[in-house]
Amino acid sequence: MKKTHALRIIALCGSMALFVPLAPAETPAGGEFTTTENGRNAYTHVVWGKIPPEQRQVILEGRSLVRQTWAISPSVDPEIAGLGPTYNRPSCISCHIRNGRGEPPASGAEPMRSMLLRLSIPGQDEHGGPRPEPVYGDQLNEFGVPGIPGEGEAVLDWVAHVEKLADGSVVELRRPSVGFRKLAFGPIAAGVLTSPRVAPPLYGMGLLEAVPENHLLAIAEEQKREGRGVSGMPNQVWNAALGKRTLGRFGWKANQPDTRQQIAGALAGDMGLTSPLAPAPNCPEAQTACRAWQNDVHPEISARALEAMTLYHYALAIPARRNADAADVVRGEALFMAAGCASCHRPVLQTGPFPAFPALSGQTIHPYTDLLLHDMGEGLADDRPDHLANGRQWRTPPLWGIGLLATVNEHTSLLHDGRARNPLEAILWHGGEAESARDAVRRMTAAERAALLAFLASL
Ligand code: HEC
Ligand code: HEC
Repeated sequence: MKKTHALRIIALCGSMALFVPLAPAETPAGGEFTTTENGRNAYTHVVWGKIPPEQRQVILEGRSLVRQTWAISPSVDPEIAGLGPTYNRPSCISCHIRNGRGEPPASGAEPMRSMLLRLSIPGQDEHGGPRPEPVYGDQLNEFGVPGIPGEGEAVLDWVAHVEKLADGSVVELRRPSVGFRKLAFGPIAAGVLTSPRVAPPLYGMGLLEAVPENHLLAIAEEQKREGRGVSGMPNQVWNAALGKRTLGRFGWKANQPDTRQQIAGALAGDMGLTSPLAPAPNCPEAQTACRAWQNDVHPEISARALEAMTLYHYALAIPARRNADAADVVRGEALFMAAGCASCHRPVLQTGPFPAFPALSGQTIHPYTDLLLHDMGEGLADDRPDHLANGRQWRTPPLWGIGLLATVNEHTSLLHDGRARNPLEAILWHGGEAESARDAVRRMTAAERAALLAFLASL
């Protein structure tokens, strides 16, 4: 039975190299960093058995820091103070709820609760990154601590249209239109570039960081050689610790090089907390009250606290697949391969040596990503460049654990701005390099589409 399955997949995709059929029981999603927990806590499981005893305490500290609500004043406790002067939310998990994913507001009348709006103007900053909006910076911070104005609110309204699939069924898709209200410092720059982004889930950072760069570059080469219109591009982003540009891996546009800098960026940009990797206060020049605001603790996050949060991310497990041997799931997997989804959503990657957290080394993992940027067409474009990523390019997001989204986060919003209300809508938004994969899904019968979705639900 297994053998026929294997032969079918290889025959369908014509390339044996990476498309090893998955025998789920033997090859768990995250290698030794896999959990069978499949309830509301599926994304918060730490693989304690793989953690050296001397590191357990610091990982527990990291977990507390990720979960806690930050205080403004150090008089409470210097360890948890430093929120603001401006911020979006007071804790990591108010956006990454249960380490999971954010969702967009249902209408323009509601605030953004678990997402944020990136801002810039055309051009680049001194490190090749986006050039901040002169008055509001590179991210709109809704709130200020007492005495400091919040910058304003982003408003997402939805514009819907209907698409017809080959079998006659009809799907309504919606895209956001971005506006502003309560802007505290006057009108925003004419021609401002905006990018609304929901919080992605937190598990799997360490395993993906441990995939060697040359493995990813080889995938990009292979995509070019295969010449099927898919050609991933690595992002190159500013690496503050090394003082040079390195491969980008995290964020919706692969705009961060590693877990530590991603967290330092979140601390600074989302919560106004300075750290050794991001020591500058999050206050554009024009915001004088923000700049004058003083905190006694500098940086507000110690190197140890940043390390603790990083190690906590490294230690998180990937949910094991469920129902992987069910007939419709197996059929859906073959359809996923045949449609070309796996060109970008790579089923198998290997981690290399990873001295920062050796337990993550040498794992065979099933993340369903290549961590590369792809042109996804006009429909998904934000028209806002981010380092080497242009306005149409997005990083292939990992699909592991996606089937538990509804269980953990009680929604099924997908894509960078959460516009897709379920996986089928997400697929129908694919364009650009993914156009032929999307068209294959549009041509499927209802039973085939159901099988494909059953496969995604098993991840
Ligand atoms: C206001 C909501 C919000 C808050 C608060 C927030 N994040 Fe995020 N987080 C995001 C968004 C949005 C992204 C994607 C950013 C991008 O694409 O540029 C992200 C990305 C990440 C990623 C990368 C995930 C991936 O797969 O690429 C990690 C890790 C992360 N955040 C950790 C944290 C931590 C730790 C904190 C607290 C210190 C935090 N975040 C606070 C919204 C938030
Ligand atoms: C050319 C590369 C490419 C191909 C081929 C491709 N995808 Fe994607 N996929 C992406 C990128 C990039 C995104 C993120 C787009 C965004 O957020 O705007 C994405 C997003 C998704 C998402 C939402 C994930 C999330 O975290 O929000 C799903 C589900 C998905 N793809 C499934 C599929 C399926 C099924 C196929 C085959 C029919 C497919 N993809 C083909 C690149 C690709």
